[in-house]
Amino acid sequence: MIMSGLVLLGAQWGDEGKGKITDFLAEQATTIVRYQGGNNAGHTVVVGDEEFKLRLIPSGILYDDKTCVIGNGVVVDPKVLMSEIAYLREKGIKAENLKISERAHVIMPYHIAIDNYEEQAKGDAKIGTTKNGIGPCYVDKFARCGIRIADLIDETVFPELLKRNLESKNNQIVKLYQGEPLDYDTILKEYTEYANFIRPMAADTSVFVHDALKNDEHVVFEGAQGTLLDIDHGTYPFVTSSSPIASYACVGAGVGPTNIKNVLGIIKAYTTRVGEGPFPTELFDEIGDTLQKVGHEFGTVTGRTRRCGWIDMVMINYAIRLSGINELALMKLDVLDSLETIKICTHYERNGEKVIHFPSSLKVLAECKPVYEEMPGWQTDTTGATTFEELPAAAQAYVNRIEELTGVPIKIVAVGPRRDQTIIRGDLFA
Ligand code: GDP
Ligand code: IMO
Ligand code: MG
Repeated sequence: MIMSGLVLLGAQWGDEGKGKITDFLAEQATTIVRYQGGNNAGHTVVVGDEEFKLRLIPSGILYDDKTCVIGNGVVVDPKVLMSEIAYLREKGIKAENLKISERAHVIMPYHIAIDNYEEQAKGDAKIGTTKNGIGPCYVDKFARCGIRIADLIDETVFPELLKRNLESKNNQIVKLYQGEPLDYDTILKEYTEYANFIRPMAADTSVFVHDALKNDEHVVFEGAQGTLLDIDHGTYPFVTSSSPIASYACVGAGVGPTNIKNVLGIIKAYTTRVGEGPFPTELFDEIGDTLQKVGHEFGTVTGRTRRCGWIDMVMINYAIRLSGINELALMKLDVLDSLETIKICTHYERNGEKVIHFPSSLKVLAECKPVYEEMPGWQTDTTGATTFEELPAAAQAYVNRIEELTGVPIKIVAVGPRRDQTIIRGDLFA
């Protein structure tokens, strides 16, 4: 049986440190595949003193000898793709082994315009999207009027598809939002250039990924966003428009469930969220400020301040259940270094009843009060620890307690943004 695939995904609201771990695991893999989302993602990877910010391209790209794949489940803004490749090359990364699925959908200027108009129209009920056109592009995919990479790169298909779509979108923009219509010729010219750039990279990537798996190579499927932003399972409607959960790796890369052996959930030692929506363990005090400042919790894409709070086991256990997570990476443990006491939300309480399963209804969720257990902090710098044993006893106890509350082994503990600040506790591909 072909079984060397590993899915890596966020188990909270995104920004867990997925990029760092993808980069770390890429060393042992041949192929790294993004399976959903688009340039709403922002992954910071630190190598030595150099910082790389990636949005669309898989975080394996920093190794010149790995192949990175943008799968069919991703929505691709060609302008962002081009500028990201240019940015990487400026920094000395070749970014040559990149393949883009012919079946991936293309983000068009009207998607970005509609994302902006929709957010504006929602007023106080806004989602707080990254305004990159992600939602409207997925809407077109499901409405069966989207433009795929295969269409973009075909000169006989694209002009007609653009004409049909733009007519309908301009109608919407002018009549519904009283906005300015977009110009056909300008878009055609711009996107023809993008098509020429993308053509050599376009491929039936499912075949490529399948061949790598057949050769028993290590393939990492990299999820963007996080479980609680999942369109089906997240805090709807305050979610993104795709499915970050592990099973979607199969859909978004074009492989079967039997190709996935391990599912690695990435969790922060606390919780953050960017944008609107519920957040049961959110902190509004100086501890929240400390987490935000020490953790440099600013959105990579929008620069917004990330909301911060305690770790929430109701949500992490929910994410474990949804994705069949069988190993965990605990990130940013060092951000807790200065705290005297650390809290873990073990369950919620609603109308005097214990709640252990993450509620579906936002109204019910709003009535849930987090119940915490407290653990002593370690008040020691952990950023130089290279083994688990080198961590202070209280930090080890915190990690062990999370392991206990999840029943899932924590195979990675991260104590800083760099590659060498990563404590490994077992083979992740085993
Ligand atoms: P992603 O979207 O899941 O890839 O995460 P982001 O890159 O948006 O956010 C994680 C941030 O934390 C990045 O700036 C990383 O460089 C940084 N980071 C990752 N792991 C650690 C860690 O263990 N400690 C600290 N202090 N920073 C980390
Ligand atoms: P990474 O991969 C954190 C959030 C947005 C907004 C909601 C919908 O870096 O973890 P969208 O533009 O997707 O329609 O916005 O989802 N969001 C993220 N939050 N990390 C991300 O990605 C996110 N991608 C989208 O802030 O609340
Ligand atoms: Mg991020």
